[in-house]
Amino acid sequence: MKKRQCFLLVCLLVIGLVSCEKYSDKSSKIKIGFSQSISEDDTWRKSMDNSMKVEASLHPEIDLSIYNANSSSKKQISDIENMIDNNMDVIIIAPLGNDSITSVIDKAFKKGIPIIILDRKVNTSNYTTFIGSDNVEVGKIAGKYIASRANKVTNVLEIRATTNISPGVERSLGFKQVLNQFSNINRKSITAVSLDSLNQSFSRVLDSIPNLDYVFAFNDNIALQVWEVAKKKNKVGNIKFIGVDGLNGPVGGIQAVKEGKLTATVLYPTGGSEAIKVALQIVKKEIVPKNTKLETTLIDSLNAGIMSNQFDKVSQQMLNIEQQQNVIKEQEKEYITLFNLIKLLTFFLVIIVFLVIFSVYSMISIRNKNRMLQINNDKISIQRNEIQKYAKKLKISNEAKINFFTGISHEFKTPLTLILSAVESLNDEFQNKNQHLKKELVLMHNNSMRLLRLINQLLDFRKIENKDFIIRPSKINIYKFSLDIFEEFKREAKKKNIEYTIVSNCEELDLYIDQNLMDKVYYNLLSNAFKFTTDNGKIQIEIRKNDELKNVCISFKDNGIGIPMGERDKIFEIYYQGSNSTKNGSGIGLNLSKKFIDLHHGTIEVLSGIGTEFRVTLPIDNQFPESMVHLSESTSSSTKLDYEYFDTDNSTQTSELGSEEKQSILIIEDNSELLEFLISKMQTEYSVFGSDGYDAIEKAFETIPDIILCDLNLPEKNGFEICKILKSNELTSHIPTIILTAMDGQENYIKSLESGADLFLNKPFNLKVLQQSIKNLLFNRERIRTFYSNNNSIITDIVGVGKNEKDFLNKIDAILVSNIDNSNFSVEELASCLHISRVQLYRKVKAILNIGIGDYIINFRLDKAIQMLKESDLNISEIAYSCGFASPNYFSTAFKNKYLISPKEYRNS
Ligand code: FRU
Repeated sequence: MKKRQCFLLVCLLVIGLVSCEKYSDKSSKIKIGFSQSISEDDTWRKSMDNSMKVEASLHPEIDLSIYNANSSSKKQISDIENMIDNNMDVIIIAPLGNDSITSVIDKAFKKGIPIIILDRKVNTSNYTTFIGSDNVEVGKIAGKYIASRANKVTNVLEIRATTNISPGVERSLGFKQVLNQFSNINRKSITAVSLDSLNQSFSRVLDSIPNLDYVFAFNDNIALQVWEVAKKKNKVGNIKFIGVDGLNGPVGGIQAVKEGKLTATVLYPTGGSEAIKVALQIVKKEIVPKNTKLETTLIDSLNAGIMSNQFDKVSQQMLNIEQQQNVIKEQEKEYITLFNLIKLLTFFLVIIVFLVIFSVYSMISIRNKNRMLQINNDKISIQRNEIQKYAKKLKISNEAKINFFTGISHEFKTPLTLILSAVESLNDEFQNKNQHLKKELVLMHNNSMRLLRLINQLLDFRKIENKDFIIRPSKINIYKFSLDIFEEFKREAKKKNIEYTIVSNCEELDLYIDQNLMDKVYYNLLSNAFKFTTDNGKIQIEIRKNDELKNVCISFKDNGIGIPMGERDKIFEIYYQGSNSTKNGSGIGLNLSKKFIDLHHGTIEVLSGIGTEFRVTLPIDNQFPESMVHLSESTSSSTKLDYEYFDTDNSTQTSELGSEEKQSILIIEDNSELLEFLISKMQTEYSVFGSDGYDAIEKAFETIPDIILCDLNLPEKNGFEICKILKSNELTSHIPTIILTAMDGQENYIKSLESGADLFLNKPFNLKVLQQSIKNLLFNRERIRTFYSNNNSIITDIVGVGKNEKDFLNKIDAILVSNIDNSNFSVEELASCLHISRVQLYRKVKAILNIGIGDYIINFRLDKAIQMLKESDLNISEIAYSCGFASPNYFSTAFKNKYLISPKEYRNS
C-alpha cells in the first residue's frame, strides 16, 4: 500500500479512538468545590455533606470535590486556594467564622469564580449568593414557643454559641426580641465556651435557679448535653429543653423530641442540596438571588412523628433516587461501552469498506497495469525475437564471413607454399649464377614470407577471438632467443644503415615462454621499429633483469617518429591505426602481441617521446601447469620458417640408406598443383605414388609404400581418418605417416597423434624441412629393420616394431609352424592364408624387416632346424625334411649360407 493511504488509515484510527474516549473525559464536567469548615464528626455537618453528595449524584455532569478544614481557618483558606488553582466552576463555602477567610473569598470572586456561602455569614459581599435559614427567625420561633406557654413567672436559660458566629448572634437576637416583650419571663444566658466548661456552668445555673422552666440551646447537641447534666441532678422533669437543627435520625433532634428529651427543636436545614442546585443554575448562567432563604419550623411532640416520617420518606426517596441513579450510571456506563464499541465497529467497518474499495481499485489498476505490462512485454518479446533473429542472421552472416575469411586465409597458404618452394628451388638453381635474378628471387621470397606472416597473424587473431589459443611454454634462454631474432633483422638494419644493437645484463637467464608466440611478439615489435625508423636511425633491444621485482624487461627502443601522447593507451586496441602512420597496417599486430604477453602473465607498455620504446615485462618465476610445459620445441612448429632467409644453412642430413633400390612414398593431396609439385620434388629420390584423397586407402594397400605424406583436408575422408584406417590395418600399420596441413593448432596436433601419425607439419612447409623429415623417419625405421632383419626369433620382442606388425609376423609364424614339414608350401599359399596378395606380403615383410618373404620362410625353417639340432636325436636328413627342406643338400647349403658352418659341424660343436 502506498504511503499516502497508510497515513490516511492511521489518521482514521486515531480519530476513531479519540471519539471513543470522549464520554469518559473529565474536562467536560462541571467542577464544584465545597469547603466544609467543621469535621464530619459533627452530625449536622455530616448531613450537609451527604445532602450535597446526593444532590450532585443526581447530576452526572457534576464533579464534586469536598475539602474538610477540621475547624481550622488556615486549612480552609488553603483549601479554597487549591480550588482556585484547580479552576473550579463554582466554589461553595461553609465558613468557620465571619472574618477569617474573607480575603481568600475576595480573591476567588475577583478571579471570576462564582462563590456560594452556606449557613454562616461572612464580612464581605464578594460572593454570588448566600444560602441559609433566617437565624433571627429561628430564635424568634423558640422564644414564641416559650412565651405561648408561660402563664406564670417563667425562668428561661439561653445557652449561646461559643464564638461570635452569625447563627449564634442572630438566634440569640430573635430569642431576646420575643422574650423581652414578656415581663413574667426571666431570661438568663450562658455561653458554651467548651463542652466541659458548659456542663459546669450549667450545673451551677441549676443550682442557682432551682425552678428553671426552659432551656433554649444554640443547637440540639448542646441541648441534649445539658439535658444529661440535668438528668444526673434529677431535674429533667421540671425543665423543658429546646434545641435547634431538628435533624432526622437516631441521634438527631427529632428523635430526641420523640424520646421526650427535648420539648422542641427548631428545624435548621443544612442547605446542602440547595447549594448544588444553585451552583448548577449559576453554571447555566441563570440569575440567582444574592440571598436564598431556607425555610424553618418548630418541631415538638405534636409533629415530631410526622416530620420524622416525612424526613424518612424523603431519605428513602433520596436513597431510591440514588439507587436508580447508580443503575442509570451503570447503564450509562454500559451504554457508553456499547456506544464506543459501536463507534469502533463503525470505524472499522468504514476502514474495511475503505480497504475493500481500495483493494478493488488496486485490483482494477493492477489489472490495467498488468494488461499494459503484458502488452509492453509482448511488444518487447516481439522486438527481442526480432533482434534475436537479426542477431542470429548477423551472427550467421558474420560467421560465414569470418569462416570464408579464415578459409581463404588457409587457402592462401597452399599457393604460398608453392611459391615459396618454387622460389627456394630457383634460388638453389641460381646459387652463385645470376646475381640479378637472385635479387629478384630474394624479393619474391621475402614478400611471400611477409604475406605468410600476415595470414598467420589473421589466423592467430581468429584463434584468440575463439579463445582456443593455448600457451605451450618451454624453458628458453631469453638472451639467446632474442639474439636469434635480432640476427634475423640485421640485414634490414644494414640496408637502412640503422645502428642496430642488443644488450643484456642476464645472458644466462632461462624463462618459460612459448617460443612460437614470443617469436611473433618480437617480430611484430621489431617490424614496427624498422617500419617507423628512418635511414641512419637507431634501434636497440635491451634485456634487463630486475631481481627485486623478479622480472625481466625486454625493451625495443627506436628513434623513429614516435607515438602521439593521447594514442599510447589505444595502440594495443584491436584495429587501431596510429594517426602518425602513413604506412599500411592491419591494426591487429600489437593487439595480438599484448594478448600473447598476457598469456605469459606479462605486461607490455609503450613510452614515447623522441622515438618509441615498447617494454615487455615477463615474470622470472612464471608458473605454468606441468602438463603445459614442453621439454623442447615441438616438431609441429614451423615458426622458424617465418624468419628463414636464403642464406640459411643448406646442409641436410644425407640418407644412410644408400640403397640402390628406391624407397616408395605415397603423397595424398587434393590440390593437384601441390601434388604435382611434391611428386616432382620427390621423384628423384623416391618411387612416388600420388593420390587425390579419393583412392588414398586403396593406393596405400596396393602399393604398401615406405612412407605416406597426407594432407588433412581431403574429400570423403580427412587425413586423420585415413591415417587411423591405415595405422589399424596390419598391412599398412608400419608405414610412417606425415600429416601435412594448413590447419595448425594444438587440437589438430593432438588429433593427428591420436590417429597414429608420426609427424605433423604445418603448411606452408619448407620443402627442405619436409624432405629432411621424410629422410629422418625412413632412417629411423631402417635402423630398426637392419638391426633385426636376421633375427626372426626375437621379432616379437623388438621395441621399434609396432603391435600390429608383431601380430602380423606372429600370424605368419603360426601358419609356417603348421606347414613346417611341407617343402611345397609356397609364398602364394602363405599370402592366400593371410588373405593378401603375394606382392602385399612381400612389401609388408620387406617394410617391417627389410627382407623378402622367401628369406623370411627359410630363416624360419633354419631357426627350427637349429632348435632340433640342439634338442633332438634326429639325423640331419630327418631334420631337413621335418623343417620343410626339399632335400638334405638344400638344407645344408642354406644352413651353411646363413651360419657359415654345416649342420653336422653345428651339432658337433
Ligand atoms: C453545627 C452547627 C449547627 C448549627 C450551625 C450554625 O456545627 O453548630 O448545630 O445550627 O452550626 O452554624
